[in-house]
Amino acid sequence: MDQAILAKHDAEKRNSPFERFLRALPVSVTDVFLNGKAIQAASFKETGETLITPDTEQVSAYFPNTMKNHANKVLETVKGGVAPVSGKKVLVLFSGGPAAGGNNVLVGLYKALCPANKLFGVKAGPGGLLKGQTFEITEEGAKSVLNLGGFDFLGSDRTKIESDEQFELVKKVCKEQAVDAIVIVGGDDSNTNAGFLAEKLFTGIHADGRGVQVIGVPKTIDGDLQVGKHLPISFGFDTATKIYAETIGNIAQDTPSSRKYYHFIKIMGRSASHVALGAAALVRPTIVLISEEVEAKAKSLDQIVTEIATVAAQRATKGIAHGVVVIPEGLIEFIPEFKSLIAELNPALDRLKDKLEGASLEEKKTIVRDSLTDASKVTLDSLPEAFRTMLLLDRDSHGNLPVSQIETEKLLMELVADKVKAMQAAPESFPVIKAFSADELAAFKKYKFGSLNHFLGYEGRCGAPTKFDMAFCLNLGLVAGSLILAGKTGYMAAVTDLDKGGRGLAIPITGLMNIEQRGAKKKVVIKKALVELDSPAFKHLQAVREVWASADYFQSPGPRQYSGPVDVTDNGPVISMMNQGYTTYTYNLGQTVSVF
Ligand code: FBP
Repeated sequence: MDQAILAKHDAEKRNSPFERFLRALPVSVTDVFLNGKAIQAASFKETGETLITPDTEQVSAYFPNTMKNHANKVLETVKGGVAPVSGKKVLVLFSGGPAAGGNNVLVGLYKALCPANKLFGVKAGPGGLLKGQTFEITEEGAKSVLNLGGFDFLGSDRTKIESDEQFELVKKVCKEQAVDAIVIVGGDDSNTNAGFLAEKLFTGIHADGRGVQVIGVPKTIDGDLQVGKHLPISFGFDTATKIYAETIGNIAQDTPSSRKYYHFIKIMGRSASHVALGAAALVRPTIVLISEEVEAKAKSLDQIVTEIATVAAQRATKGIAHGVVVIPEGLIEFIPEFKSLIAELNPALDRLKDKLEGASLEEKKTIVRDSLTDASKVTLDSLPEAFRTMLLLDRDSHGNLPVSQIETEKLLMELVADKVKAMQAAPESFPVIKAFSADELAAFKKYKFGSLNHFLGYEGRCGAPTKFDMAFCLNLGLVAGSLILAGKTGYMAAVTDLDKGGRGLAIPITGLMNIEQRGAKKKVVIKKALVELDSPAFKHLQAVREVWASADYFQSPGPRQYSGPVDVTDNGPVISMMNQGYTTYTYNLGQTVSVF
């Protein structure tokens, strides 16, 4: 191929007018990191708080060095007083799914550490660390990704560093490359691994006996890495939620225009329903399902389907033949009968690995089905053929069902269509329909249920970060870099007080750990933060959802904005701000400054 053409394309890569505009945007920086308009590192003081979980005593036994060192004490950033540290070599890696804002974490680290110290990126995540694949992040490199979405600058993967052999490999890489610190940007499992790595690398890496510091940074669009008042949200959640909300808002506006479809929209968020709840708060859809509520109320699939069909029937009596149903990606794992089925399937697929190898799809289905209890066989047999096959998909490296590939939205859509027909055929069997007046029943009987399904997932992870995620991430990177300069290890960077100028915190990772049954094993892990049914955000939904279901009250939040009125450009993650009890949805993370 013509070299000149390739060079031209290379120069134009990630260089659209929009991307150039984003790079030039100033970003909010918390006061402790500012010296006039210049960005600098901070020092730390104890907040006086210690984090514990019900399992802290047992957990502490796994972390003798870490516990002796920080005793689960929370630290906060302080302006100035940073010890002059130079010559450190720091690695940073992305772990797991991408999330918008990650590049600004790199920039924050760069601004805190460099040029006195060196920042190296690890290519392709924890897997790349095991292979020692690193490259230096220069100022030019950091500038090139400022304010852009995507994890492509470093790459990422889902390798889980947890075995002794893997820890030895990391030690080898650290010795060979004279590494002083590693920053792991990831979700709950990756930060759990960061905690273990901090313990394993505590001493004995350098000739003088020193170890390698390990610092975590909370990333995941799922929003399920939160620590109460200390960490209102993980980065990437705000951007993903707003990208989905924009599309859901557009679809919602289409429905009263075309007046014939119910749109079943599944949106990402592996386990927790924060993203669904957050997008719904912005759009006000007809229905939003919340997995945690389904589990708490032990709602069966049939109950969920009946509830949706009942709303469609009630709206049909008013001449409304359309609506929007938002479905959290992980729903299937929270419906009791599926929860038991999946809990049996996961170990069965592992146990039967040899038998399944080389078997045809039909043989696989029979082998797996035969291994199940009678109750799970009934659940499996009740499902459409295509859905049964999806449940046999390969699990990820964490043993999770790949819920993004399971078409729950299609299953619900088809079952609701059947249910509406059943209601029309036998109204007396359904109390709400039975209570319709003669006119309402006549209108409902004439009604034809039309539906379409969508999945919004990958489009939400690498789009341009919201202004909130740009600022949140830059500050997270500054906290992480400052922790390295302060010689700390086993901490996760955090930023809180999102309405008051921002407050950088260091959260001891061991203080978040619990002992959980995962498959056949008990594991020490950071507990996922699910939607709490007594949280202000869920209570808000409870208070308004009957109204949303009764007629159209959609709002169109529109695309993320970078200039315009402050309540349009600087709105933060609404449900997190509700849960923190803030009186505003406009974030304040300090003064806006030019980063380079
Ligand atoms: P992380 O928890 O690693 O941030 O990833 C979250 C997520 O985006 C989920 O919402 C989704 O279910 C999953 O990743 C999809 O994974 P994959 O990229 O491997 O298909």
